[in-house]
Amino acid sequence: MEQTVSPAAELQGTLELPADKSISHRAAMFAALADEPSEIHGYSIAADPQSTLKCLRQLGVPVRHEDQKIFIQGVGRAGLKKPKQLLDCGNSGTTMRLLSGILGGAGVEATLVGDNSLSKRPMRRIIDPLRNMGIKIQAQDDNFAPLHISRKNPLKPIRFDLPIASAQLKSCVLLAGLFGDEPTEVIEHLPSRDHTERLLGLQIHESGDERVIISDNSQKIPAQNYRVPGDFSAGAFWLVAGSIVPDSHIVLKDVGINPTRSSALNILERMGAKIRYEKQQMAGAEPMADLIVDYHDLNPTIIHPEEVPNCIDEIPVLAVAMAFADGESRIEGAAELRFKESDRLKAVAEMLQAAGIEVLEKKDGLVIQGNGGKPVYGTRFNSYDDHRIAMAAGILALRATKPSTVDKADCVSISYPAFWYNLTNLTD
Ligand code: S3P
Repeated sequence: MEQTVSPAAELQGTLELPADKSISHRAAMFAALADEPSEIHGYSIAADPQSTLKCLRQLGVPVRHEDQKIFIQGVGRAGLKKPKQLLDCGNSGTTMRLLSGILGGAGVEATLVGDNSLSKRPMRRIIDPLRNMGIKIQAQDDNFAPLHISRKNPLKPIRFDLPIASAQLKSCVLLAGLFGDEPTEVIEHLPSRDHTERLLGLQIHESGDERVIISDNSQKIPAQNYRVPGDFSAGAFWLVAGSIVPDSHIVLKDVGINPTRSSALNILERMGAKIRYEKQQMAGAEPMADLIVDYHDLNPTIIHPEEVPNCIDEIPVLAVAMAFADGESRIEGAAELRFKESDRLKAVAEMLQAAGIEVLEKKDGLVIQGNGGKPVYGTRFNSYDDHRIAMAAGILALRATKPSTVDKADCVSISYPAFWYNLTNLTD
């Protein structure tokens, strides 16, 4: 499907965001490993978290939907069954990488497959530590899905120094560690999203710039009443939209504001964005608030390498904000973006250039010449079938001189099925 987006005079309205994708995946997986039933309020209906539920069902975990809730009958650490068919992770890197840790740790033999995009994403990063734990993994070219996982020998706990700031890698190893007699330790130097640690209540030792996170089979996996906050990564599109379209006023309800996810807030605020927080509260272990954004002129900024892990999914839309700032902005130390659902450094550079913005693509970042808030060209945007690129292009198109089109626009269903509907509602 192709989506046409017309320039907007203003954006006004209140939005409920889709439930957080990262928290949804984890709540479902942890509920499956608990010994008692759990309830999850507001589980995401987006395609990626639904891939996780489908895989869990194939592993013998009963999942039942009722209204806005899902009920998961935990089967316990020893209760997962060998699946009869391939486990299809669809487009979801989190499903593939986290489930690999669980299956390897539990010693459940399975083959995980993914769609075209997921089959091109690097898995060597999880294969190496899992092999060191005594887990057998066969992979295409020793790096790509399909991944065939099995384990005959006892699990070997490891002490693993994270070579990249990746929450998927960190979580994969910690989840495998949950099945070991001795502690597995993961050492983190730059904090990445910490939902796994928070939701499981894992032990953490901090000293200097080192954070050591520990898991073993004495860790209780409690059955819980999970409440999933709105997805900050979805909200970021509207924070930028409200900041670049004159006369806008947007209220986002119940947004997750976990600090390891929301450095985009600090970045937008130092660019001059006008964002207010209201009704700050906890949704279980996760902080959330209503966020209110009003239009304001933007200054250029630099996204520094140490900020990147905490805004990794927001960078495409932050680049859109930079396109309207008054001067040169830079994104540094963001090579990981090349390994997402598409090569996001290339995709963002092309998107902005198509709209007439000057961009220099570097090995690990972008240099963006902001136009000081002038309209950009309306054009045809290539989404690369990547949900975050399609949505970023949709926001950019709101400030174009004429209507634009975004191709393969239905890919937004991966994380935000109602995105185009919400966009239309805000402009009406
Ligand atoms: C995620 C972690 C991030 C992020 C992805 C979701 C998670 O990936 O880009 O969308 O839920 O753990 P990396 O950990 O590979 O950076």
